[in-house]
Amino acid sequence: MNQKHVFQPMPIYEMDFNPFRQFKEDTCAIVTEVNGKANAMTASWGAMGEMWGKDVITIYVRESRFTRELLDQSETFSINFFDMDKVENKMALQIFGSESGRDKDKIAELKFNVNHSLNTPFLDESNLVFLCSKLSRTEIKKEDFFHPRIDSKFYENGDYHIMYIAEIMRVGAR
Ligand SMILES: Cc1cc2nc3c(=O)[nH]c(=O)nc-3n(C[C@H](O)[C@H](O)[C@H](O)COP(=O)(O)O)c2cc1C
Repeated sequence: MNQKHVFQPMPIYEMDFNPFRQFKEDTCAIVTEVNGKANAMTASWGAMGEMWGKDVITIYVRESRFTRELLDQSETFSINFFDMDKVENKMALQIFGSESGRDKDKIAELKFNVNHSLNTPFLDESNLVFLCSKLSRTEIKKEDFFHPRIDSKFYENGDYHIMYIAEIMRVGAR
């Protein structure tokens, strides 16, 4: 299958979009690409808003993820949301969130298709895509927490999140 859906540009201030529900309940796929090889990783931690006079998305990716390696080598990435009533999308997000692109080409295995816009990879099967350009990278550290229980609950193994803030270059919907 090699479908090419048409994504319409979506003006960001006209969007009927709840980031809390989208990230937490639906989750998204972060899509990165280096040397023509794309990878997708499920993420449910994210934020959207204003920073440095720009519309931004913030994602939190643990140091150990293959996606973290690819993010560090890329200028851009995409955040992909899906119609979660479709069983194939649910299944894909399970695979993207449990297997590593270090071991296999998850996208090809699922017969999903990579599309590009603004030199940025995204998944053709998505129905809402944010094309993002990195602005900053911040490593979350043990000493950053006011509540030690956050550190002990989430980082017992020392695999801390790295926070990437990125400018939203374009939103596409279909
Ligand atoms: C529902 C769900 C949400 C997830 N959210 C995140 C996240 O926000 N940040 C993160 O680093 N890993 C998150 N993960 C874990 C990664 O998706 C998982 O480790 C994945 O296999 C990494 O793939 P990669 O090695 O190809 O990058 C999540 C997994 C699931 C199932």
